Amino acid sequence: MPKFDILTFPDPRLRKKARPVEQVDASIGRLVDDLLETMYAAPGVGLAATQVNVPLRVLVIDISEERDNPVCLINPTIVSSAGAEQMEEGCLSVPGFFEMVTRSERIRVEALDRNGDPLSLDADGLLAVCIQHEIDHLDGKLFVDHISALKRQRIRRKLEKEQRHPAPVVQQRRDVI
Ligand code: NI
Repeated sequence: MPKFDILTFPDPRLRKKARPVEQVDASIGRLVDDLLETMYAAPGVGLAATQVNVPLRVLVIDISEERDNPVCLINPTIVSSAGAEQMEEGCLSVPGFFEMVTRSERIRVEALDRNGDPLSLDADGLLAVCIQHEIDHLDGKLFVDHISALKRQRIRRKLEKEQRHPAPVVQQRRDVI
């Protein structure tokens, strides 16, 4: 069993802005392991600490087919971006919904790795989308903030109804971040 439950929209805790990690110590290493376990079990391709009610700037991603290439970013900052790309996104905190979102096509991100060492990463395609989506989570934002208010309200109402009357879990068929 993964350690964490994933918060679901419109839970207000998803709106908290996460604070920077001051020191990458053993407790952060355990957090990263627990996030990865929760992400793989979900299953999803990305998870931010905010989504499990840990308000720290830590996120994990694995977009590999084999699920054996985890990326961990601590205190990530997008230092440059270029282009624009539309991609269909889903989210473990917005289960069952997929919408087109426009984001930067290419980004450079700087962060600390799980050892506390600085890293710089150039990303495009799905990886760039995932990083932007997860950094949004750390800022209390969700992909539904990028779509129309009408669509967002519709999703909110459906999820609130489901939370009152839980339906059987349906296996996810697409990548969710
Ligand atoms: Ni998400």
